Amino acid sequence: MSTQIRLARPDDHQAVANLYLEFSGWPLERHGSIQTAIENPDEELFVAESEGQVVGFIHQVYYNDPLHAGLNSNLTSLYVKMGYKRRGIGSQLVQQALDHARRRNVVEVHVTTRETNLDAIKFYEANAFSREGVLFEINP
Ligand SMILES: CC(C)(COP(=O)(O)OP(=O)(O)OC[C@H]1O[C@@H](n2cnc3c(N)ncnc32)[C@H](O)[C@@H]1OP(=O)(O)O)[C@@H](O)C(=O)NCCC(=O)NCCS
Repeated sequence: MSTQIRLARPDDHQAVANLYLEFSGWPLERHGSIQTAIENPDEELFVAESEGQVVGFIHQVYYNDPLHAGLNSNLTSLYVKMGYKRRGIGSQLVQQALDHARRRNVVEVHVTTRETNLDAIKFYEANAFSREGVLFEINP
């Protein structure tokens, strides 16, 4: 079964929203946010399409970082639908995001996940990411 990785289009909105809900369990209104992710030149939303269905996505945000004197990016979310995991789709999504980051001369690509998300930790290590630092968060 072949999987195509491509930039999300406006007509992918509902499928991507469904995957975000499946991923997070948070029933949020994501219409504007997904639209921005598709249209904003400083963001990329890639989807994985298999058998005519959107089965995964990755979202990348670019930002200027004076510390690194250049552009960095953050992979804010990555998800592969149940039933499609362990087929290399997550890796294809990450590699596509890294490929685009290289084309923009990004200095560092960052991703964070919970300490308890052992599957994701193994996944990122399998994709050659190194473990650096600790994640802090606050609702401002
Ligand atoms: C993490 C996730 C994106 C991986 O997607 P995937 O398509 O299953 O990953 P791949 O098939 O490309 O896996 C590549 C390698 O990563 C490692 N890996 C992936 N999932 C793993 C798991 N559950 N347990 C152990 N290793 C795992 C393996 O080394 C795997 O290679 P292998 O299958 O040949 O052993 C997917 O499990 C997912 O959507 N998880 C829920 C959301 C999430 O945690 N996202 C990341 C945090 S933001």
